[in-house]
This record gives sequence, structure tokens and C-alpha cells, in this order.
Amino acid sequence: MMAAAQRIPLVAGNWKMNTTVPEGLDKARQLVAGPRPDGVEVVVLPPFSHLWPMREVLDGSGVALGAQDVFWEDAGAFTGEVSPLALSGWCDYVLVGHSERRHLFGETDEQVHRKLARALTHDLRVIVAVGETLDEREQGETMAVVHRQLDVAFTGIDAAALDRCVVAYEPVWAIGTGRTASPEQAQEVCAAVRRRLERLFSPQVAEATRILYGGSVTSGNAAELFAQPDIDGGLVGGASLKPPEFLQIVAAAATARVSS
Ligand code: PGA
Repeated sequence: MMAAAQRIPLVAGNWKMNTTVPEGLDKARQLVAGPRPDGVEVVVLPPFSHLWPMREVLDGSGVALGAQDVFWEDAGAFTGEVSPLALSGWCDYVLVGHSERRHLFGETDEQVHRKLARALTHDLRVIVAVGETLDEREQGETMAVVHRQLDVAFTGIDAAALDRCVVAYEPVWAIGTGRTASPEQAQEVCAAVRRRLERLFSPQVAEATRILYGGSVTSGNAAELFAQPDIDGGLVGGASLKPPEFLQIVAAAATARVSS
């Protein structure tokens, strides 16, 4: 079995629909120029408009590039959608199932599954986001919701592809609200995610898969969150738009892994 220390921590910055292209490239240059510890994987997810020019800025830096969403078909009459085929070969990661996609744009568990499955056929790495709303938490439904989202997303996915998958647990009530889950709350659900992966795949897959926490992660709370045994890094929204703070969060991931 793989100990937590063997999973390489990952910190992903989800810029959402923020920055113009020149502003984004400037932030990417700051990230590349800043101090980054060894042993932490860093991914930036800018808006689609920024991806291609940002590829050049990130090349050779070790910072990976990701898209915030992807469609489940390769080509066709799907106005406004972005094909995984078009991203494959130069974009490293895609994010699927982010709660803003699910709740603002009505994306279903089944659609998240189709996006995941298709992205994997193009050798993209995929961050799959899951998480409950405040109402669901208050009703005691957190685990049931997260289990359902995982079960549907990973239906029929080959265990061999799990080395290209990352799960991000993001309680909807903690996203962009400044209300972070406590380290204990986050750990409890991340551990449940790992147990569900064990049931869906195998103990080996569950132990090897990285599970991130997301929801109001800052340089102030990152170390405590990342020190939890089943939290292998973070999916960071607001704080990822400030390169110095984002780099502090990356540093916290390195320290947490060394000392846990
Ligand atoms: P936040 O966003 O860090 O601004 O809460 C996290 C996310 O939506 O991925």
C-alpha cells in the first residue's frame, strides 16, 4: 500500500472567469519566476481564451496547464463547446464537475461522467470535482451525495486510467465564501472519497489516487488542511489569482507532506 508520503501533492489554481489575456499571461510569468519547492505538482487552469498563449509561458517551467471544463464529443455542431481532441497533446489537465458547472449551468452527474470518459481517451489528466451543498450537509446527506457523484462519474472507467485522475472534494458552501471546511471536516470526506475509490476500483488505486480539498483555501489555512492524511493538495480559486499567495500555498503543500 502506498503511504500518503508517496503521493505527490498537487496544487491547482482555478482562475474561473477572471483576467484578460494580457493580465493572465502576466500572472503566469510571475508564477514561473517565483520560488517553487520540489516535490509538488502545480497546475494553472486559466480561462479557455488564455490556454494557447499560456502554453508558451509555462513551457519548461514545470507548471502544468489545465482547462476548466471540456466537452464530451470530439467535433461537431456544438457551438461554444471545447473539444478534448483540440486540447490533447499540449494541455495537461482538464477539470470536470466543478460545482459552478453543476449548479449554475445545470450539469448532471451523467454529463460529468461523459466528459471524464472522453477526456481520458485523449490522454488528458482529469480533475473530477465533487461536493455537497449547505442544504445537503445540513440534511446529513454529505456522504450520499459525494458517493453518488463519484459512482456515476467513474462508471465504466478502467482502473488503469485512474493514474490520470485526481478527485477534488469541494463543499459548495465553502467555495468563494471565505467559509473553509475545518481540517477535520475536510479530512472526513476526503477519507470517505478514498474508501469509495477502493470499493469502485481497488485498495491500490485508492491509495495511489490524489484527493484535493477545495473551498476558500488561503495561505493562512493551507498548511493545516494539507497536513491531513487523506488530503493531497488543493484546488484553489480566489487565492490562485494572487501569484505570491498561490506560491505560499504551494510551499505549504511541500512542508505538510514532509512533516506528516
Ligand atoms: P475558492 O474556489 O478557493 O475561491 O473558494 C475554489 C474552487 O471553486 O475551486
